[in-house]
Amino acid sequence: MSGKLSVQTGEDRDRRVLELWERVVEIEQRLIPTGLHVFGRASDEPECADLLRVVASFDRPESGARALTDLVAEGLGLGAYEGLLASKSENGLRERERVDEIVRASVSIFLREGVERACGLLETEARVPAVESAKVFALLARIREGLRTSAELDGLARALRGEYVEPGPGADIVQNPSILPTGRNTHAVNPYSVPSHTAYARAERVVGMLLERHRAEHGRYPRTMALVLWGLDNIKTQGEGVAQALWLLGVRPVRDRLNRVTEVEPVPLEELGRPRIDVLMTVSGIFRDLFGATMMLLDKAVRCVAELEEPSEMNPVRANISEQMSADGCAFDEAALRVFSNAPGSYGTNVNFMVMDSQWESADALGDLFVTRKCFAYGRDREGRALEGREARGALARSLARVEATYQNLDSFEIGITDVDHYFEYLGGVSKAVEKHAQVRPAIYLSDALSRDARVRSLEEMVRLETRAKTLNPKWYEGMLGHGFRGVAEIESHVTNTFGWSATADAVDGWVYEEVASTFVLDAEMLERLRRLNPHSARSLVARLLEAEGRGFWDADAETIERLREIYSRLEDQLEGVA
Ligand code: BEZ
Ligand code: MG
Repeated sequence: MSGKLSVQTGEDRDRRVLELWERVVEIEQRLIPTGLHVFGRASDEPECADLLRVVASFDRPESGARALTDLVAEGLGLGAYEGLLASKSENGLRERERVDEIVRASVSIFLREGVERACGLLETEARVPAVESAKVFALLARIREGLRTSAELDGLARALRGEYVEPGPGADIVQNPSILPTGRNTHAVNPYSVPSHTAYARAERVVGMLLERHRAEHGRYPRTMALVLWGLDNIKTQGEGVAQALWLLGVRPVRDRLNRVTEVEPVPLEELGRPRIDVLMTVSGIFRDLFGATMMLLDKAVRCVAELEEPSEMNPVRANISEQMSADGCAFDEAALRVFSNAPGSYGTNVNFMVMDSQWESADALGDLFVTRKCFAYGRDREGRALEGREARGALARSLARVEATYQNLDSFEIGITDVDHYFEYLGGVSKAVEKHAQVRPAIYLSDALSRDARVRSLEEMVRLETRAKTLNPKWYEGMLGHGFRGVAEIESHVTNTFGWSATADAVDGWVYEEVASTFVLDAEMLERLRRLNPHSARSLVARLLEAEGRGFWDADAETIERLREIYSRLEDQLEGVA
């Protein structure tokens, strides 16, 4: 945990202990992948239990099943589970743990002894009517069957033979259990159906939390934000990221007579109850390729808001555009550019490669690279001509200079901000670019809109949570080490991705590096395991820790650094001996 423990009164201490307890529960309950997916192999029992428990903690209207957590909380007379999640009292936390424990027990009985016994347990322990719980377990039984069936090898062989592969939706299992069985031909979404009604409704809540959090910490709403939008996320969530951008601007999607989202209309300010937010959207190459119509919609939304005659404190989009037009003497079309991506045919920011290869001297270089890669504007001009990725470096820089907060939506339990290098290349990259052009580091937020307890977190909080729940969690790293050399590479890559958040956003506490060093390197037995399984990744991990210290991300004591250097040379010598 960050910050010093300053205890003044008994009341203070109790509050602090409760906060710590809540964080421990949060880490404990976080669904993490334990080990890599092995192509063609179905989920094992513990993994199956974890997944089913999370699936069962959401209402499933399509199956007529209610969330088990709600059924248990209500059966125990504790009201809605939502209320327990919001509660900050000791009692609330204990009750929540009690509900979670009963849900956990019922899922494990279901797996071992079947539906009837599981319903029986819930009836005795929590007075849950069997008619309700039976619907949940009927759904879980179908999902379990789907998890047992892996059509992956068969699907691959068919594809290689040029045969028909049955299509299936792309999502994660918690959002949409009908992705099972895996091994089918993942189909995307129709861009004209995005955002779905559900995505738009869910986005309102997350945007509300995001803006309230910023206001609580900074005294007012941000006037301008930068959002990262990815293609696969918006497929999985039917456009939650897109819907969040629309809500920030204060517009709603409008469907035409073919039920296609082709227009937007403003939500009146009285209804919105807050100022509109100016939104800069940096979208991935995949988003650009899959969601061409959506890029046009987002551009249209900005232009629509810019035309509204509203006071400048309530409509920063209009105010910023007119300020830019008079200061720079530029046209409306230039000042209204907000949707940026790579040049046509190009993908990614390359910020990840620059970080991983240690190819940067000053942090500005990372932000500059982001701008170089992402300064291509999409949308239409006033005459209706498509821009098709016109280079607009100046317009992007102008927009970045106004940004106060950056944000990305997390779409899946399966991949978090330290699992892959793409989160830091995008959200870290845009934040670093803002820092250069606005001359101040933005507030950086993420949300996992997916979890039952949807939360907006600061990047720093998210890095701490990922570190505790994954990198330093024996359940996670032992799962990885079970995969041999690839597992060590995964551990090393988590450390490098964490380092990426230091490089791009200065968002990693020193204790993270300290504990990574003591867990994986300074523990002789662990180091020997890593070295035997994968000496190259073991060496890279030590090198990354030394680089973190060298770049000032970690204030390690001299003795630790000395030991790391010795270990590094030893690993290096051994590798040379092998070569
Ligand atoms: C995307 O879905 O847009 C995406 C996926 C991986 C890396 C970056 C973007
Ligand atoms: Mg991309």
